[in-house]
Amino acid sequence: MGPPGAGKGTQAEFIAAHLAVPKISTGDIFRANVSQGTPLGVEAKRYMDAGNLVPDEVTINMVRDRLAEPDAGDGFLLDGFPRTVPQASALDKLLADLGTALDLVMELVVDDDEVIRRLSGRRTCRGCGKIWHVEFDPTSKENICDRCGSELFQRDDDKAETIANRLVEYADKTAPLVDFYGAQGKLVGIDATGPVEDVTVRAIDALRSYG
Ligand code: AP5
Ligand code: ZN
Repeated sequence: MGPPGAGKGTQAEFIAAHLAVPKISTGDIFRANVSQGTPLGVEAKRYMDAGNLVPDEVTINMVRDRLAEPDAGDGFLLDGFPRTVPQASALDKLLADLGTALDLVMELVVDDDEVIRRLSGRRTCRGCGKIWHVEFDPTSKENICDRCGSELFQRDDDKAETIANRLVEYADKTAPLVDFYGAQGKLVGIDATGPVEDVTVRAIDALRSYG
């Protein structure tokens, strides 16, 4: 967890690869549905464009389906879910039914000014989904992914007014999960400032000390 632009997607890719588990990002699943024009995508887009959260029921059902896929059987890394107390409670129940539980919750800690700098320069690859930044992680050719050669795009919800509302949603609905997981003894705060590689090292160290 962490505010919009904290680096969840960026770090999730490295950590999931390190652990050899799938990365399950609710934001990515919603965006894939939006670009394919599915009924779920049409519904989610209304909320995403405004910077609001998609309703809990829709999101929980989607995650339930995703966790039932075979590649999630040996562990997974969740990115951007849960982000409300009802989602967290539903996840606990869902995992208990599957005979498992979350091991650790990482909170990427970064201030609002840095978040705004990161989101306003973010570019995402249309081909492979790699996340870039015009200033902090630029491609060698403008708007072309170094990894796969596809074009980059700017997310619709990275406009200034939408970013402001996403930060409000985070503070209102997601920040309470710090206490929720703190009470379960599962929360670890990660300083998410500085170079991407340094944050990855801190995150992997936190996983190591967890065991
Ligand atoms: P989602 O896609 O989850 O968006 P978000 O939480 O707002 O987070 P972001 O993806 O914007 O940021 P990030 O933390 O992943 O940062 P990133 O690594 O890209 O959700 C989008 C929408 O979907 C929501 O608003 C909601 O509508 C809906 N949704 C999703 N999940 C939901 C749920 N559970 N319930 C209800 N609705 C849901 O990094 C940002 C930029 O910074 C990049 O350009 C990157 O290159 C750069 N960067 C990263 N790390 C560093 C660093 N250390 N130094 C410098 N730059 C860096
Ligand atoms: Zn690419």
